Amino acid sequence: MTATKGLEGIVAATTSVSSIVDGVLTYRGYDIDDLADHATFEEVIYLLWYGKLPSHSELIQLKAELSASAAVPAPVIDILKLVPRNTTPMAVLRTAVSSLAIYDPEAEDMSPEANYRKAARLQAQIPTIVAAYARLRNQDDPISPKEGASIAENFLYMLTGSEPDAVAIKALDKALVLHADHELNASTFASRVTVATLSDIYSGVTSAIGTLKGPLHGGANEGVMAMLEEIGSIDQIDDYVRGKLERREKLMGFGHRVYKGGDPRAKHLQRMSYELGKRTENLKWYDMSVKIEGLVFGLKGLRPNVDFYSASVYTILGIPRDLFTPIFAISRCSGWTAHILEQYENNRIIRPRAEYVGKADQKYVPVDYR
Ligand code: ACO
Repeated sequence: MTATKGLEGIVAATTSVSSIVDGVLTYRGYDIDDLADHATFEEVIYLLWYGKLPSHSELIQLKAELSASAAVPAPVIDILKLVPRNTTPMAVLRTAVSSLAIYDPEAEDMSPEANYRKAARLQAQIPTIVAAYARLRNQDDPISPKEGASIAENFLYMLTGSEPDAVAIKALDKALVLHADHELNASTFASRVTVATLSDIYSGVTSAIGTLKGPLHGGANEGVMAMLEEIGSIDQIDDYVRGKLERREKLMGFGHRVYKGGDPRAKHLQRMSYELGKRTENLKWYDMSVKIEGLVFGLKGLRPNVDFYSASVYTILGIPRDLFTPIFAISRCSGWTAHILEQYENNRIIRPRAEYVGKADQKYVPVDYR
């Protein structure tokens, strides 16, 4: 038995939710470029869960269900109030999503119907939790979700307390479409491993959030902004990037296990970063990002991934840096739950083997003789 480090190249599941073939990402057979240009996040949620784009009435029904489910149980809001104010929003989200199960009477109901209803509740309530904690830590009261608003609009509204403008809503909606699913990424794999023991959907999404949080996965978008802020200005880029690479340190937002010729989502976020920067007459982060991209490619042949330009997009939208990864979770919840539902449909426990590299033939010695 020989292990493959990081399971590189191992095909660990079948799925019909999304695929990456020759650098092309598709959700249910639809090219991400097509969806990014035309679909709303709610259409994508429907697509991921039900395998087809919704009709008009199906979309209205899904939006109504999400809207009706967006309020978070009061005891979960109470938990958010008890959390120390300096806790990272991803740690809070992980705890809050786990606690949602305690207040959902259907939490242990494993029927497909109940699991779809729970997927909708999770999708609707994660944005409410993120926005509520973002306000509570600033001593502001949480804002109740607005009936009939899209997830993107509602999130910005609950975060700021004012009506977001159409450009901001559209930009966030597109970012949510782009992050919604990504084949067997680390957090989706974690969620599938969890529910393959026939554990509940809340446990699966809690595992996924804990996995997304890491800087090598979803946490990289916060790392990109931290890097841009640390560099500070365009003339400091050369020294910074060369220094990092010479020290063999990772540059956040670059590289990918699957894409070697470039992440197809990055170009959309790059365009958004430029357009939003131009509109607000703040192209500083965009210009710095472009320069870093060119330098890193020239020196190391690495291309930006989805996290690289999303950092400047969210910053220009006025979103605090430590909410970038929670926004990723708001979007990826759609993919996690689609994969969880798929896993339940055709389940087998996921239990690989490990190559043992430890000591052999050890003999027990009583504690007094060690
Ligand atoms: N900066 C500098 N060097 C890098 C980077 C990077 N961002 N990414 C890869 N490399 C280098 C490695 O040092 C290694 O070089 P070497 O062969 O000279 O030792 C080589 O490229 C291969 O890198 P691995 O880390 O082995 O690649 P792996 O497929 O295991 O990891 C990962 C992929 C985690 C995305 C990696 O590229 C990385 O750490 N990137 C930075 C974090 C990041 O942006 N994560 C977000 C990924 S997208 C997402 O999850 C949403």
